[in-house]
Amino acid sequence: MQTPFVIALDGPAASGKGTLARLISEHYGFAHLDTGTLYRGVAWLLLAEGGDPAEGDAAARVAREFDTAKIVGADIRTKEVGAAASVVAADPAVRAALLEFQRRYAANPPNSASGAVLDGRDIGTVVCPEATVKFFVTAGAKVRSHRRWLELLDARPELEESTVYNDLIERDARDAARSDAPMIAADDAELLDTTHLSIDAAFAAARRVIDGVFRRCG
Ligand code: C5P
Repeated sequence: MQTPFVIALDGPAASGKGTLARLISEHYGFAHLDTGTLYRGVAWLLLAEGGDPAEGDAAARVAREFDTAKIVGADIRTKEVGAAASVVAADPAVRAALLEFQRRYAANPPNSASGAVLDGRDIGTVVCPEATVKFFVTAGAKVRSHRRWLELLDARPELEESTVYNDLIERDARDAARSDAPMIAADDAELLDTTHLSIDAAFAAARRVIDGVFRRCG
């Protein structure tokens, strides 16, 4: 069996990496793992049992027992779960418990796909340092928080844009400052700044990079 073509997309919240990862996986017929779902899932399960995200042992236990089947239908996209996810994600025991699943996914993409796209914060640096192509997707904080605010608005019409901005800045700071697997661009990652790019333009830029690698790999 050929080694899967692995594409890593890392970057801060609402940078566009999730949408790009989905478009890329559909275009190339690759599997897609949104690794934030795992951390959100652990946080959601922990909150559901009344646990404290900052209390390490409980989060690590939930992460060791984690199974995606446990969060089917769970509302993990709220900003509260996002904030709790970034707290549990700073715990090395939580990260260690989720690492193997992510690596296995990349090495053996489901449905015999010939490649996998993983998006998160540490894919190019820790989970798949040997990824075939790496992107670090970013955008200005105001642009990102505006995008996230628009996404949340239907469910939470009362939400102030400034609240979303403050939450996003706090979460990015926590993700970038943690000692284990901080959010950082891999040295060999392509930087993709989507501040002034439509999703179509960002997707086209990503495709140019990936197609170039395909050509070089033959
Ligand atoms: O990408 P998303 O916003 O769903 O991620 C939620 C949180 O999960 C992030 O703020 C981050 O703390 C954590 N995370 C991580 N490593 C990843 C993916 C997500 O630490 N690979």
